[in-house]
Amino acid sequence: MLDPIETASPGELRALQLTRLRWTLRHAYDNVPFYRRKFDEAGVHPGDCLELDDLRRFPFTTKQDLRDHYPYGMFAVPRERIARIHASSGTTGRPTVVGYTQRDLDTWAALMARSIRAAGGRPGHRVHVAYGYGLFTGGLGAHYGAERLGCTVIPVSGGMTERQVRLIVDFEPDVIMVTPSYMLTILDEFDRQGVDPRTTSLKVGMFGAEPWTEDMRREVEARLDMDAVDIYGLSEVMGPGVSQECVETKDGLHVWEDHFYPEIIDPSSGTPLPGGEPGELVFTSLTKEAMPVIRYRTRDLTRLLPGTARPMRRMERVTGRTDDMMIVRGVNVFPTQVEELILRVPGLAPHYQCVLDRPARLDELTVRVESRSAGPVDGAAGTLEELIKHNVGVSVRVEVVPPAALERSVGKARRIVDNRPRP
Ligand code: DLL
Repeated sequence: MLDPIETASPGELRALQLTRLRWTLRHAYDNVPFYRRKFDEAGVHPGDCLELDDLRRFPFTTKQDLRDHYPYGMFAVPRERIARIHASSGTTGRPTVVGYTQRDLDTWAALMARSIRAAGGRPGHRVHVAYGYGLFTGGLGAHYGAERLGCTVIPVSGGMTERQVRLIVDFEPDVIMVTPSYMLTILDEFDRQGVDPRTTSLKVGMFGAEPWTEDMRREVEARLDMDAVDIYGLSEVMGPGVSQECVETKDGLHVWEDHFYPEIIDPSSGTPLPGGEPGELVFTSLTKEAMPVIRYRTRDLTRLLPGTARPMRRMERVTGRTDDMMIVRGVNVFPTQVEELILRVPGLAPHYQCVLDRPARLDELTVRVESRSAGPVDGAAGTLEELIKHNVGVSVRVEVVPPAALERSVGKARRIVDNRPRP
């Protein structure tokens, strides 16, 4: 059974969004000194929001704002009402801390249940959760959603790859929730143990927390004989389950617009862009109590498209983050572009890293990529160099390394290794 709002008309949805947006702006202004100051400085007041388009008059919120108010300064309710904390590690600086009231946790579980259902999960299914449990939102977010849907949850968390394989074989899950890069590591472990992954009980994989490509979908679907769908979210806005791809269409992720209002902006000027234009995704929460976010800049690049399987708008699969964009001799390069091309070269495995160096004055990009089998793969490096030159427009060096030579993560893969001197 779908939630009634999942099939509501655009008119009904917009009316609900406006009511909730006005509540959120007021709630943030009244209870978070940061928002009060920012709104006052910008000369806007929650009462100025009379229609959804008025939101563009309100200021943006950034990850830095959250860091500056570490740990609890963005909370809009007294600390005693915070039922749970999560935090995103971040590679540099302070982590970003997020909080949830009991009602926020309830909403999250309901939206994750909705997401799992859209992915093809059903009550009674067994769900193997290989997202990490802990401060990261992936494990616990998936966990409570699967419980809410009425599934049997197998809370494995990330790591201990040998055991992941054994549990998939023995416990016979229908659904697996894991980062796409860790799924590949688990698949390699199937091969090592001599177990054919196509014979497992898995029907659906819900992959997210990092960018991945259509070519990766094909790879994983073929190797596992199951459906692979995209799930998106971020801690600052909630965690996994902000948007979800439907298994019947596999055409991008429906934003759960009854709880999150999306915008696309030009990342350099901040100007909102019309539907269909690519740019940076910005979210305003519509129901969050503990930590409302107003026009939060995700740094994720995508575009908004009309609904298909559901009336709610879709976002296209995220191509990368503004901070993952490598600029090599003036050309913008994202790791996902490299991934797509690697998967077109026979003999190369989608385990790769982009290494940036600056030996002289110019940046150089080396793509380190594993071969699928131990023997030599003649010509693969040259083929990939050609493909990248032709499709991305930049000369890179490709270094083919033996299987398992590159660092494996049990969560989000590190695709960029930046060896350039710090400015
Ligand atoms: O990664 C939440 C999550 C967990 C989503 C499990 C999906 C599955 P954070 O650690 O705060 O939260 O990282 C959020 O990860 O801004 C994107 O850059 C990236 N990301 C998340 N999902 C996707 C996806 C979780 N499906 C950041 N495609 C986001 C591409 C994604 N990037």
